[in-house]
Amino acid sequence: MHGKASEESGAGPASGDPDQARMHPAPFRLPVRRAARDEEHAACAGTIASGAVRVGDRIRVQPSGKQGTVTGIVTRDEGVQEAVAGQEVTLTLAEGIAIEPGDLVSAADAPAGVADQFETRVTWLSDDPLLAGREYLLALGGQSATLTVTDIKYQVNTATGEHIAAKTLEHGMIGVCNISVDRQVAFDPYSENRQTGSFSIVDRRTTETIGTGELHFALRRAHNIHMQHLDVDKTGRARLKGQRPGVLWLTGLSGSGKSTIANRVEMRLHAMGKHTYLLDGDNVRHGLNKDLGFTEADRVENIRRIAEVARLMADAGLIVLTAFISPFRSERRMARGLLPEGEFIEVHVDTPLEVAEQRDVKGLYKKARRGELKNFTGIDSPYEAPENPEIRIDTTAFDADAAADSIVAELHRRGILRHG
Ligand code: ADX
Repeated sequence: MHGKASEESGAGPASGDPDQARMHPAPFRLPVRRAARDEEHAACAGTIASGAVRVGDRIRVQPSGKQGTVTGIVTRDEGVQEAVAGQEVTLTLAEGIAIEPGDLVSAADAPAGVADQFETRVTWLSDDPLLAGREYLLALGGQSATLTVTDIKYQVNTATGEHIAAKTLEHGMIGVCNISVDRQVAFDPYSENRQTGSFSIVDRRTTETIGTGELHFALRRAHNIHMQHLDVDKTGRARLKGQRPGVLWLTGLSGSGKSTIANRVEMRLHAMGKHTYLLDGDNVRHGLNKDLGFTEADRVENIRRIAEVARLMADAGLIVLTAFISPFRSERRMARGLLPEGEFIEVHVDTPLEVAEQRDVKGLYKKARRGELKNFTGIDSPYEAPENPEIRIDTTAFDADAAADSIVAELHRRGILRHG
């Protein structure tokens, strides 16, 4: 019964007709909605996505890979010997194996794949463009994970099938994209199983569905890269420096005073004997990020790289200061998520647009107003102010030295400047 499924056999749950399930023998798949267990038994319930299950069948719980034997099947309060796609069932298992909502129960001899990187075909449904590097949520059956598009390979012209180079996907566009998720998920290629081979992309903030996708295949490249265990660790490196590592993340409009304030904070920390490093927008854009401009897609990538560099530097035991506009909440949250609780301090250098524009230290606002500089933050590109920054500096009330003093005082209060 567990031969390779054809395209149709994976299509939609069958009507619950055992004959039809026999004619189209898709492997058994049950996305688990509810589960319970004690030491000796386990039970799980959900709607069978494909195939059939019989009492006595061996099953595999995925992604964990644990195996068990079906001892009972209940559907509509009735014990049965067999159940098929489309039916809601509760299975009891002979073993007390770990099983949780979101898991996929598969035929043991024809299990689904398990992976965390895929080539996919995405249909984008949001008015905001799909941006590579931004964190979204994946919903695949009952499984969820953090999803990022690592590469938009091309957009598909649905009329001609032609492949078009694309940096983003706009509303209604279809594209072939590589994606990466933050944990292993169980799946089938869409060509083999439409149920377990399709997913949704969900907005982290609004929980709206903003895209749908079909899984083509798993990318195996991640399989051969294992995290190397290093004996000298972050704590050890920081201890040698007698400090606690951390990232002080300054965000604000161009001309808000981020660089000036960050520079003064660094001078104070340096004078206290702290080992620091300041990553500054204009400087990093001359080196590491010189290939990036100011489109939304490039800004997301700019901040993704900075966040990774800041994490590595904190891992090296440093107190890192960053001064980037970092206009989007999503990427600032991503940066925060790379560090342990308490080590990421978000500082909103809060300067109203009128004031930054009035100062116009680099003359860029004038250029932007004249239409000579596109995508300028605050003019024709958005700035999403932090909702809950650890520190907010009102630069209309404090000068750079007062701002630096208050940041250092707050770092003391938060224990970052304690001896490591
Ligand atoms: S971010 O948006 O990707 O975080 P980043 O902080 O690296 O921006 O760079 C901002 C600096 O680049 C500004 O202070 C300004 O000097 C310069 N710049 C040039 N073009 C733009 C633009 N279109 N929008 C904003 N800043 C720009």
